[in-house]
Amino acid sequence: MLALLFVGIALHLRRSSPSPPPRIELPKEPPDLLLLITANRQGKLEVCGCPGKRAEDLAKVATLIQDTANEMQRRGATVSIVEGGDFTGSDDVVPYLLKAYKVVGYQCVVLSPRDEKRLTVIQSNADGVQLLPPTNPENLQTFRIQGKTFSVVLVNLGQPPVKDENYWQRLLQHLQALKQPNTLLAVVAYIDRNTAMELAPRLKGTVDILLIDDALPLTNSEFSPGMTKASKEVSGVLLAALPQSRAAVLSLMLWANSENRDSYRLEGQWMYATGRNDNPQVKQIIDEYYAKRQEELEREMQELMKIATQKAYLPPEFCGECHQAQYEQWLSTGHARAIEVLVEQKRMDRSCLTCHSLEFRLRGVVTERKKRGVECVDCHEELQDPATAQMHGQRPGERPSARIVNAEIICVRCHDKQNSPNFNLQTYLPKVAH
Ligand code: HEC
Ligand code: HEC
Ligand code: HEC
Ligand code: HEC
Repeated sequence: MLALLFVGIALHLRRSSPSPPPRIELPKEPPDLLLLITANRQGKLEVCGCPGKRAEDLAKVATLIQDTANEMQRRGATVSIVEGGDFTGSDDVVPYLLKAYKVVGYQCVVLSPRDEKRLTVIQSNADGVQLLPPTNPENLQTFRIQGKTFSVVLVNLGQPPVKDENYWQRLLQHLQALKQPNTLLAVVAYIDRNTAMELAPRLKGTVDILLIDDALPLTNSEFSPGMTKASKEVSGVLLAALPQSRAAVLSLMLWANSENRDSYRLEGQWMYATGRNDNPQVKQIIDEYYAKRQEELEREMQELMKIATQKAYLPPEFCGECHQAQYEQWLSTGHARAIEVLVEQKRMDRSCLTCHSLEFRLRGVVTERKKRGVECVDCHEELQDPATAQMHGQRPGERPSARIVNAEIICVRCHDKQNSPNFNLQTYLPKVAH
């Protein structure tokens, strides 16, 4: 056990390469007010535990947000961190997400209509972070971000009835009442860009920023790997796109004009968490979640095992009886430990097991963890059918063809870009072939 632990630590050290995180590309002139907005997390704390880029992990996005906020604050900007909605998945993940948001310094959580269905659990875990559920014209709830010269007032419309004239008349009237000097009105609406472009002329003069749940059409020059332009002025309203990827953060910047106190400039960009380190506090919260979920998963597995159908599955020892050399070579590869690595990391998740366990794929259950994982017939596909496998050693006609493993196709099913970014057949194949 201790030996395993050491191997685990050694692997870990090797993997967490010390390459410095990418620089934050800040505008030369720091904005007066900066909103950092995330969206569309859909309850996913981590996307994969593999050594891929994993820029979508909450712990890495947290680092991007904090690094940016610290740097901008140091340069005199007022910074506010806001969740833009669709952040929840199942109920059980909500407390952990909100705890992490609190650590990162989120001030406001805008709830999408989907989030609103989990209002009770969100409310009981908000812990001082302001919630902004979808509101109706007569009862507008707001969140105010006070900058030095300008402030921004945030309103959440949810999915507004776009075609309802009466609604817009009433809404604009009530929004007008919120208008004050040096105050910008930012409205969140979960609508697409085409709807937003039709709507913009109506909102002109009242709404300054319309935050929508869609990307905006971009020209090539507006896209760079680290940063994408995410705003567009349409009929005097700034359309800004909520992040459509978990790896992205919308950075909405406001520059006041020192000459003329009534004028300002706005711009939105998506920044990406690619290459960031994990925020240790957030990572710890995520690990807590998985540790708890693991207990449930274990219980679920126990239940499943009782009713484990006799769906045939032949373990690697079966093949090993006749192919001992190949079996022993296989045992020395990571493929034979693919389930154990998940157990060690407390990540026996269904989504992970689909690649890490043959038995799970075939029977929906894991009955044995050691010396299991990516197994003989993952590669020797012709023998996937246990009936064929049971006969092939005895009947010449049932033997696999000479072209036994089509490595070009088979490996990349699991060794895809996200999970195995360094995959190269020339270097990987010799490590597993026997
Ligand atoms: C699409 C298939 C696939 C899925 C899904 C997948 N993995 Fe992996 N995983 C791989 C592959 C392939 C590797 C080997 C990568 C390499 O070495 O290049 C790997 C490697 C790993 C490793 C490193 C093992 C070691 O000994 O270095 C860990 C840990 C891991 N995965 C955890 C997870 C977790 C946790 C999940 C679910 C959140 C997951 N994986 C989902 C394919 C997958
Ligand atoms: C990661 C994929 C992979 C896994 C898993 C795997 N093999 Fe293989 N196996 C190969 C490849 C690749 C070859 C060589 C094919 C070639 O040279 O064209 C091979 C060849 C063989 C051969 C042919 C004789 C030889 O040594 O060349 C036998 C028998 C065999 N494997 C048995 C097994 C058994 C038994 C297991 C499970 C314990 C297993 N393999 C697991 C990829 C795999
Ligand atoms: C009862 C013994 C037995 C079992 C069990 C068995 N094999 Fe074989 N296997 C053989 C024999 C015998 C051959 C033919 C060897 C030869 O032609 O040199 C063979 C051939 C193969 C070959 C092809 C080698 C070639 O040169 O074409 C592969 C691959 C292979 N077996 C994989 C497996 C896998 C995977 C399993 C488990 C699902 C398995 N075998 C189970 C006896 C067995
Ligand atoms: C069913 C999914 C799957 C397939 C198919 C697959 N792998 Fe893997 N592979 C994994 C997973 C998962 C890991 C990580 C397991 C671990 O390290 O514990 C891994 C790890 C590896 C490793 C690093 C571990 C070691 O032993 O050094 C190599 C090399 C590798 N695979 C090569 C290949 C090659 C080559 C093929 C195709 C012939 C292949 N794999 C096919 C899932 C797969």
